[in-house]
Amino acid sequence: MKSKIHFIKIIILASFLVHYSCNGKVEKPCYTPDDITYTNQVSGLIEIHCFACHAPDVYKKKASRNKIFDYPSLKKMANSGQLIGSITHSQGYIAMPYRKGTKIDSCAIEVIKKWVKTGMKK
Ligand code: HEC
Repeated sequence: MKSKIHFIKIIILASFLVHYSCNGKVEKPCYTPDDITYTNQVSGLIEIHCFACHAPDVYKKKASRNKIFDYPSLKKMANSGQLIGSITHSQGYIAMPYRKGTKIDSCAIEVIKKWVKTGMKK
């Protein structure tokens, strides 16, 4: 009896494994807290995804002086529509990350969008 239950458990586990390995794009759950702030979430995402070109020491050369590395400058870019426009590859904006062809991960985009929508808290 015990070994039968064990066998069933293995079957269930195996079917999960097959399911997840065949289905390449299993969406990871995206956690967007209600209180998104520049300091806690957004600045880190900008650092990871954008600082190769937009860091304080390189942005003049590598990002044509487009400043997004501190709160006031990012807020300005968000208010003009350029921040969301560029990361969502919307028409009329220059797609970011520049010339990479791909967007940053969709969860990061959701977090940044929500930050803008909730008033760009510091
Ligand atoms: C590989 C370098 C590179 C990376 C990485 C990069 N940028 Fe840029 N960014 C640029 C360059 C270059 C420009 C200026 C493009 C131009 O004017 O033709 C620019 C311009 C911009 C602009 C102005 C866009 C517009 O429509 O006027 C925004 C906003 C921006 N970047 C945001 C970001 C954000 C946010 C990230 C990270 C998700 C990012 N960038 C990552 C190089 C980069």
